[in-house]
Amino acid sequence: MSCGTHFKFEVKFKEMSSDYLKVVLLKQGAQVRDGNKYRLTPFGVTNGEIISAPIESAQKLTDHEDVKTVYRVVFNSANINHAFVPGDTIGVLPSNNEDVIDEILARLNVASSANEVCELQILEGTLKKNPSVPKHLPPKSTLKKIFQNHVDVHTPPKKLFLKSLARFTQDPQERAHLEHLCSPKGSSDYTKLITTSGRTLLGLLKTFPSCGPPVEVLLEHLPPLQARPYSISSSPLSGKLEITFFVVVRDDGSKGLCTGWLERLIEEKADIPVPFYFRQATAFRFPKELPELPVILIATGTGIAPFRGFLQDLELQGRFNRDIWLFYGCRYKDKDFLFKDEIQEFEKSGVLKKLSLSFSREQRQKEYVQHRIEASPDFFEWILHKDASVFICGDAKTVVTDVRTCICQTVGKYCGASDGEAVVRRMESTGRLIVDTWS
Ligand SMILES: Cc1cc2nc3c(=O)[nH]c(=O)nc-3n(C[C@H](O)[C@H](O)[C@H](O)COP(=O)(O)OP(=O)(O)OC[C@H]3O[C@@H](n4cnc5c(N)ncnc54)[C@H](O)[C@@H]3O)c2cc1C
Ligand SMILES: NC(=O)c1ccc[n+]([C@@H]2O[C@H](COP(=O)([O-])OP(=O)(O)OC[C@H]3O[C@@H](n4cnc5c(N)ncnc54)[C@H](OP(=O)(O)O)[C@@H]3O)[C@@H](O)[C@H]2O)c1
Repeated sequence: MSCGTHFKFEVKFKEMSSDYLKVVLLKQGAQVRDGNKYRLTPFGVTNGEIISAPIESAQKLTDHEDVKTVYRVVFNSANINHAFVPGDTIGVLPSNNEDVIDEILARLNVASSANEVCELQILEGTLKKNPSVPKHLPPKSTLKKIFQNHVDVHTPPKKLFLKSLARFTQDPQERAHLEHLCSPKGSSDYTKLITTSGRTLLGLLKTFPSCGPPVEVLLEHLPPLQARPYSISSSPLSGKLEITFFVVVRDDGSKGLCTGWLERLIEEKADIPVPFYFRQATAFRFPKELPELPVILIATGTGIAPFRGFLQDLELQGRFNRDIWLFYGCRYKDKDFLFKDEIQEFEKSGVLKKLSLSFSREQRQKEYVQHRIEASPDFFEWILHKDASVFICGDAKTVVTDVRTCICQTVGKYCGASDGEAVVRRMESTGRLIVDTWS
C-alpha cells in the first residue's frame, strides 16, 4: 500500500504483491467518492435506488428461550416515495461488525491508516487482462469504510483465495498446509476445515498466524457484501413500511450478520439510517381478479410476514367479501404466535373466513399445519370445487416440501392418489399454487 510519495508499511516479501490492485493513501482533505451507490443491488427496481431510513420503532414479538427471537421493525417513511405492494421484498444492506473489522485491519498492520482517505488504483505492470476496480468497491474511501460496508468477511474463503494467501505465509509448514487445502488432494480437508466449520477470514488468519497478506489481496478476493431480502409485512395503506425477521443464531452462538446488526441497532436505539432498496416484484401477490374464488394461505413461523401484509391490506381496503383461509403453525400458542391479536381480529372482522392453527410444542406429538390440512375436508372442497388459490410461505427444505406432499395426498384421498399430484402440478403451472421461501 503506498501513501502518495512514501510507503506506509512494507510487505514481508518485497518481490510479491497483489495481482492487480493498489491502495494509495491520499493527502489530507482528499474528496471521498464513497457511499452506498457502490453496493450491489440485485433484483433492484428503479435502478436499485438505495433508500436510507432509520428504524422508527421496533417490537420484539417473541420472548422465550425455546423460540426464535423475532422482531417487527417499522421504518421511518419520510424518505420513502416508492409505491410497494404486499408480497414485495426489500434488500437490506447491512454493515460488518466494527470490532471484527478493527481486528482484521490490525492483523493486516493497516489500523493506523484505516481512517485516512485512500484511492484504489490498478497496479502498474499487472498481468491481469482488462483489470478494473471491482464495481462493489468505492474508488475513494477509507479502508475502514470499505471493510465495514463493501466486502463480505464472513463467507468461508474460496480455494483461489487460499492459494493467494499461501504466497504471503512465512512459516513453511503453514504455507504447505494452505497449499494442501487448495489442491485437489486436499479437497475433503478444505471442506472440513473451511466450509463445514464456517471458517471466516479472521478465523483463518488466526489459524495461520504467519500469513500476512497485503490489504490489496483481500480486496481482490473478498466477495461483495450482499443485501439480505426481507418480505414487507405491512400494507402501503397503513402508511408504514415494516419487516418481520428472526435473529439467526449459528451453531457457535454468533448471530447472523444482518439480523445481528439490526438487533444491535434496535437494542442501542441507534438513529442510524438503514440502507435498503426495493426488489423486483414476484408472483407472490394477492390475486386481485375473480374475488369470488377463495384463497388459502399457509405459513409457519416468520413465513407469516408477507401474509400479514396481505391481510392488513384487505382490512384497510375494507374488502371482506373473499373467502380466505389461513393455516398458521408455530411452536407455542403464547410464545411465538406472531401477530396473534391481529390475526384473531382478522378472523372476527371477517377478513379471514377460516383460521386453522397448529402449535408444534404444546403437546408430546408434533402438530404441524399439515395435520390441520389433513383433518379439514373443506380443504379438498375449496381446491377442487371452488378453484381456490394456495400460497405457501415457510422453510424451503422442510415445510414447503412437506406441505406440498400433504396437499397432494389430501387431494389424492378424494380423487385418487395419482390424481392428487396431477392436480397440484396443474395448480403450479397455472399460478394457483405459489410458494415464497428462503433458507
Ligand atoms: C425472498 C426472501 C425473503 C426473505 N424474507 C425474510 C423475512 O421476511 N424475514 C426473515 O427473517 N428473513 C427473510 N429472508 C432471509 C434473510 O434474507 C436473511 O437470509 C436472514 O435474515 C439471515 O441473514 P443474516 O445476515 O442475519 O445471516 P447470515 O450472516 O447471512 O448467516 C446466514 C447463515 O447462517 C446460517 N443459518 C441460517 N439460518 C440459520 C438458522 N436458523 N440457524 C442457524 N444457522 C442458520 C446459514 O449457514 C446461513 O448461510 C428472506 C430471504 C429471501 C431470499
Ligand atoms: N418471503 C419469504 O420467502 C419468507 C419470509 C419469511 C419467512 N420465510 C420462511 O419461513 C420459515 C419460518 O420459519 P421460522 O424459522 O421462522 O420458524 P420456526 O419457529 O423454526 O418454525 C415454525 C414452525 O414450523 C414448524 N415446522 C418445523 N418443521 C416443519 C415441517 N416439516 N412442516 C411443518 N411445520 C414444521 C416448527 O415446529 P418445530 O420447530 O417444533 O418442529 C414450528 O412450529 C423460514 O425458515 C423461512 O424459510 C420465508
